[in-house]
Amino acid sequence: MVGLGPGVAKGLNLPGQESLKGPSLGAIVSVRGSVVDVRFDEHLPPIYSVLRAGDKGQIVIEVLAQLDARHVRGIALTPTQGLARGMAVQDMGDPLKVPVGKEVLSRMFDVFGNVIDRGAALPDCQWRSVHQPPPPLARRSTKSEVFETGIKAIDVLMPLERGGKAGLFGGAGVGKTVLLTEMIHNMVGQHEGVSIFCGIGERCREGEELYQQMKEAGVLPNMVMVFGQMNEPPGARFRVGHAALTMAEYFRDDEHRDVLLLIDNIFRFIQAGMEVSGLMGQMPSRLGYQPTMGTELSRLEERIANTDTGAITSIQAVYVPADDFTDPAAVHTFSHLSASIVLSRKRASEGLFPAIDPLQSNSKMATPGIVGARHYGLAQEIRRTFAQYAQLKDIISMLGLEQLSPEDRNVVARARRLERFLTQPFFTTKQFTGLDGKLVSLEDALDGCERILRDEFKDYPESALYMIGAINEAKGKVKPSPSTAEPKSKAKADLAPAAKATPEPHPIAGARPQPMLEHADDAHES
Ligand SMILES: Nc1ncnc2c1ncn2[C@@H]1O[C@H](COP(=O)(O)OP(=O)(O)OP(=O)(O)O)[C@@H](O)[C@H]1O
Ligand SMILES: [Mg+2]
Repeated sequence: MVGLGPGVAKGLNLPGQESLKGPSLGAIVSVRGSVVDVRFDEHLPPIYSVLRAGDKGQIVIEVLAQLDARHVRGIALTPTQGLARGMAVQDMGDPLKVPVGKEVLSRMFDVFGNVIDRGAALPDCQWRSVHQPPPPLARRSTKSEVFETGIKAIDVLMPLERGGKAGLFGGAGVGKTVLLTEMIHNMVGQHEGVSIFCGIGERCREGEELYQQMKEAGVLPNMVMVFGQMNEPPGARFRVGHAALTMAEYFRDDEHRDVLLLIDNIFRFIQAGMEVSGLMGQMPSRLGYQPTMGTELSRLEERIANTDTGAITSIQAVYVPADDFTDPAAVHTFSHLSASIVLSRKRASEGLFPAIDPLQSNSKMATPGIVGARHYGLAQEIRRTFAQYAQLKDIISMLGLEQLSPEDRNVVARARRLERFLTQPFFTTKQFTGLDGKLVSLEDALDGCERILRDEFKDYPESALYMIGAINEAKGKVKPSPSTAEPKSKAKADLAPAAKATPEPHPIAGARPQPMLEHADDAHES
């Protein structure tokens, strides 16, 4: 207590005076990985202050805790190589800041606001702290407007909200980044506002590829990219989201423009927080996550909000560890979003890209008051068809398609055609699928689904609907074959090679007749 007194008194009595403004010097007491303890004899830097160490001040530390009257504990945002006990540390007297303003457009940054696109240095501009409060409740706006993406499955079944938050959930390698890149491609051109891409903890290569793609597409002048990729220390990955958001808030609040904020991948933010928390010595919570995960995530997510001056629409990829959607990280993220697009591994393995699972995904915009009665009715009917098909799948795999009633067979035929119609070739995957990308208007997508549900394409092979844009392309692709009225024979002949839900049952049903089938049937019903 004796030691505490003078320090506190000094801080209270001299606010804003030189001794506080000027950088003060400290000395390193301990270094454990990214965690650095520093002793300050004069003025103890407040939480979130930035400290610098090293010959050129290249090692940056952010204060996260004040241990006692003389010691702070911080996390390094750069590698701590070369750091040693006793080395001098300078308190910069400021929190972490990033540049904001028109100057940042078309540039690529790291978490410190350094340009990393090998371009010219940034001209003089305003720098702002990355720690900002979310807008107060009174300033938030609650308009509900749909944001079209040109991707059939999304626009029909889970329309995105302008100014809302949408999540792309999926395990490793099911197509989150591809879908996000396609959305950027489709939306950045038609979006009048600014787009900000934030790469958190993903591959550096993807950042570079995206930069080149955007440059070629000519949309860079209205875009900003901020990266803290997987090679960076946890502190940097933890703060890079805040850095991108600070730039987004500037465009919303000061320039009154709409902002499209794309994040790949928000799970890496949570993971970085977990690493920081572990390094700081906090007790882990469920599944090893940090006890403060909910707070950390909502501090970031709540800043992504609409105000009367502008909207931040955000699309976030969310990696789901081990495809387990009950993972605390996924569950916490779900609760912040207005639309969740869930990607399923099974669909990806069947080649049904984008691998969106229509029964798991949802959007709060899918209500008759917002999308209209026709769209809502169609979406419900499509979901119903898929749900029935999902139930029938068990029976099909045990008994075979021919055991179904004619109505059920019709449901299967419709669901399989809808499934294929809701696939779409992407502009960004042209180099490996060889198919030209397609942008489909909502009207065309609804029209196609409606006509499939009305059985207009009953006599078309399923493959005619696979990887097309609007439904009329199916007519150009193949002629209907009137002789094959039964869905059974078509399903066998025309599937995309990887799709195997229907053809499988035949050999099984043939090889093991009655007893097995009865047993299986019981099992299914129980
Ligand atoms: N729409 C698509 N069309 C064709 N192929 C696709 C499509 N989406 C994904 N793929 C295939 O899946 C692969 C993985 O996709 P992607 O990199 O987007 O996965 P991811 O979910 O981001 O994975 P990670 O969690 O590892 O980042 C792609 O390289 C591509 O081969
Ligand atoms: Mg990815």
